[in-house]
Amino acid sequence: MIGFMGTGKSTVGSALAERLGWRFVDTDATVVEREGRSIPQLFEEEGEAYFRDAESAVLKSVLTGSRQVVSTGGGAVLRQANRETMLEGGFVVALTAPPDVLLARLRGDANRPLLAGDKEERVHRLLEERKNAYDFAHLVVDTSRSNVRETVESIIERTG
Ligand code: S3P
Repeated sequence: MIGFMGTGKSTVGSALAERLGWRFVDTDATVVEREGRSIPQLFEEEGEAYFRDAESAVLKSVLTGSRQVVSTGGGAVLRQANRETMLEGGFVVALTAPPDVLLARLRGDANRPLLAGDKEERVHRLLEERKNAYDFAHLVVDTSRSNVRETVESIIERTG
């Protein structure tokens, strides 16, 4: 599962895994577990590049498995090597939602360092910067039109 922050990758990903009886892996959570520090801490103490390296390492090790749903961080697609790892490792589903829906979901969130400060401005700027970043997916699903259960069923239907 790829997509911008707030598109529902973890929520939909874990529900999809449960529905299929597959393992669920969240790369953000795995980085936090391996590093023993939160994402804001990692950004602050080590910098974004360190987090990106840890994220790439997790992706590479996780995506060798099968019968699993893997939710990635919104910026995991920024590295070409990660995009290749994803395409080699499985079926890539991109989740989307309109900016106002993303902003409503992200309001009050304090766990995303890239949104610190003026959240609305940050979200709009990052959406612009990442306009085409998720286009390489095999399937694109808008999560603003239906609930989690319906979204999961639609993914299953559309992947055969
Ligand atoms: C990021 C998204 C976050 C997390 C980190 C950076 C990004 O994951 O990996 O804060 O660059 O878009 P979510 O997409 O799960 O919020």
